[in-house]
Amino acid sequence: MAQIEEYQDLVLDALEVVEFKLIRDKADADINNDAIPGFHPVMAHQIFGESETIFGYQDLRVRILYTAGPLHIYLGVEYGKRVNEISDGEIKADDVVATIAQSLPDGCYFINLDEFLKTLDKADKFQPFGEKISEYKQQSEDGTERLFEIYQCDYKSSSFLKFFARLQTFILWFVDAASYIDTDDPQWCYFICYEKYKNNDGQYQYATAGYSTVYEYYAYPQNKRPRISQMLILPPFQKLGLATQMVKTIYQFYQSQKNVVDITVEDPSEDFQRLRNFVDARYCKDLKSFARNELIKGFNKEMVREARETLKLNPRQVRKVYELMRLYYTNVNDDKEYKAYRLEVKKRLNAVYYKQLKDLKKMERYKMDTEMLRARLPSTKQRMEQLQEEYTLVEQDYKNTIAKLKA
Ligand SMILES: CC(C)(COP(=O)(O)OP(=O)(O)OC[C@H]1O[C@@H](n2cnc3c(N)ncnc32)[C@H](O)[C@@H]1OP(=O)(O)O)[C@@H](O)C(=O)NCCC(=O)NCCS
Repeated sequence: MAQIEEYQDLVLDALEVVEFKLIRDKADADINNDAIPGFHPVMAHQIFGESETIFGYQDLRVRILYTAGPLHIYLGVEYGKRVNEISDGEIKADDVVATIAQSLPDGCYFINLDEFLKTLDKADKFQPFGEKISEYKQQSEDGTERLFEIYQCDYKSSSFLKFFARLQTFILWFVDAASYIDTDDPQWCYFICYEKYKNNDGQYQYATAGYSTVYEYYAYPQNKRPRISQMLILPPFQKLGLATQMVKTIYQFYQSQKNVVDITVEDPSEDFQRLRNFVDARYCKDLKSFARNELIKGFNKEMVREARETLKLNPRQVRKVYELMRLYYTNVNDDKEYKAYRLEVKKRLNAVYYKQLKDLKKMERYKMDTEMLRARLPSTKQRMEQLQEEYTLVEQDYKNTIAKLKA
């Protein structure tokens, strides 16, 4: 009887064999046409499990094609040989289509390429949903210009919800710990970015480039605190400044609303936090409380008030921008000035540890047993080393952003 171990070479890395492509034209779907490059997923554990592998094929190619605007989906699998045949039916290969299909909106994908391509006949009629709230021209190095438009949409038409259900299928492959949102919940607000481009007939057409969802939390008595939940710029559109533009657009949208307390971000990734710091620092630079002579004196309530009232930044983020902007103005060649800066940041980084120590001492005053808790805390020496490491990372991150602010 065949042993599964004999087929180790048929265990494939899903990140390598799965390929996405955004199709504008029927010719783009041709497997040999590389004019529009495909792209691979960043993660696959939500689809194929922790190992992110697919079993049972030789020369496997999993193609997931989306029409560029409306995002109709085609799922195709090609391979040289399959374990089913090699093992005379004793061992079965993973059913790739069925596995991926579980994550797709019900029945909303094609496995017949011709049927899928027929949807392109109507793709030139595809129009963005909602209301246009900003546009952005991106100039590439060779001087060509691309036009992007951002739309805000909170209505719940079934055609929008079907489109959004297809759009959010990308997050399982590109956003860590992502899950689909409950579109029945009316507090979700959608921001979608499209590229407006000229097709082969010289007519304008729209391609979907990315999106962000914002949850509008209620705040007493009649206010709201919008929280940016997900943001995804599809890989072919990354590093063009689109996420930066999305953040600015979302800010502008909420800054004009009197009942918005502040804007928060749910569990931001490092890349997102970096671009958020950049946008926020640029805005705060023009505030009175963020002038050099104010920053050097230390963090104060006026910074929080001014940044919250004018920009809707939340206090925690204001603190980060304060540190970033203080470093911006700090003369690191002046020992005293630089040391004062480092102490200020380390004080914040050490706040949790300090609080834990304080709680322990309090418990000990009440004669409580703290042995286990103490054992879990690092020693003073260990903590000093950790703190230095944390500080170095924070400072490097700020320095990168400062270089961009000065560029
Ligand atoms: C994080 C993410 C949203 C950023 O989107 P993006 O559109 O590529 O972001 P931007 O183009 O505005 O900025 C990204 C970088 O490109 C740079 N950039 C901006 N415009 C550029 C241009 N015209 N040319 C080259 N680089 C540019 C930015 O300075 C920034 O540099 P940095 O990474 O060193 O900070 C995107 O990578 C993504 O969707 N990632 C996966 C999902 C995710 O992590 N989402 C965030 C969850 S909260």
